[in-house]
Amino acid sequence: MEYVDLYLVHWPVAAKPGEPQFPIKREDIMPLDLSGVWRAMEECHRLGLARMIGVSNFTTKNLQELLAIAEIPPAVNQVEMDPSWQQKKLIKFCKDNGIHVTAYSPLGGQSKSNAVIQSEVLEDISKATGKSVAQISLRWIYEQGASMVVKSLKRERLKENMEIFDWELSDEDRLKISQIPQHKRVRLTGIVSPEGASNVDLAELDIVEM
Ligand SMILES: NC(=O)c1ccc[n+]([C@@H]2O[C@H](COP(=O)([O-])OP(=O)(O)OC[C@H]3O[C@@H](n4cnc5c(N)ncnc54)[C@H](OP(=O)(O)O)[C@@H]3O)[C@@H](O)[C@H]2O)c1
Repeated sequence: MEYVDLYLVHWPVAAKPGEPQFPIKREDIMPLDLSGVWRAMEECHRLGLARMIGVSNFTTKNLQELLAIAEIPPAVNQVEMDPSWQQKKLIKFCKDNGIHVTAYSPLGGQSKSNAVIQSEVLEDISKATGKSVAQISLRWIYEQGASMVVKSLKRERLKENMEIFDWELSDEDRLKISQIPQHKRVRLTGIVSPEGASNVDLAELDIVEM
């Protein structure tokens, strides 16, 4: 490959140089040199190695810091987003600043206990519309102006997940989805703590959760 279409900073977190080990040990976490990282990303773009550059898992605070120093603003912020974690404030901030949002784990990820696939609200809408729960979630994301990276190992589901563009949710369905209780699934403590979430004080490490 001579270039990539889009190159992302995966997390606003830095670890000591070397082979990445997850979860990152507390003593291996370093202050993030956002300016240095972004200069290097911009250089990738200028050299033609990345057509677009962006970020992932950035909060509005992270984005504000980045926009203050960027010569080339991030094209994309890829974040956890689905009907059970709607990210309204972040979506608005990104829209106001011309940053496209991509939803990752748009079906709630791969765990058995899943707030999207097992949502009663989405199940009711599914029964009434004849669309699958997955399609309701993906369509809702699309209607927020975001794109999505959805994953399946099954051919029929890959097809099903693409069939969301020739119909729309009703206002009533949108209202019901807007009232779904919110629950964040992906936590930074999952990647920075070998001892488990309760043993890491993110504020002490100068890390802000979304
Ligand atoms: N930037 C980041 O930090 C970050 C973090 C997490 C994930 N991601 C990215 O997000 C993408 C997707 O993430 P993900 O796999 O965690 O979550 P996901 O796409 O929300 O969920 C995938 C799960 O949903 C199932 N599924 C797919 N289509 C379905 C359908 N139509 N009906 C019912 N179940 C369906 C899949 O099972 P089957 O395979 O059996 O269909 C799989 O178990 C990946 O590319 C991943 O790399 C990025």
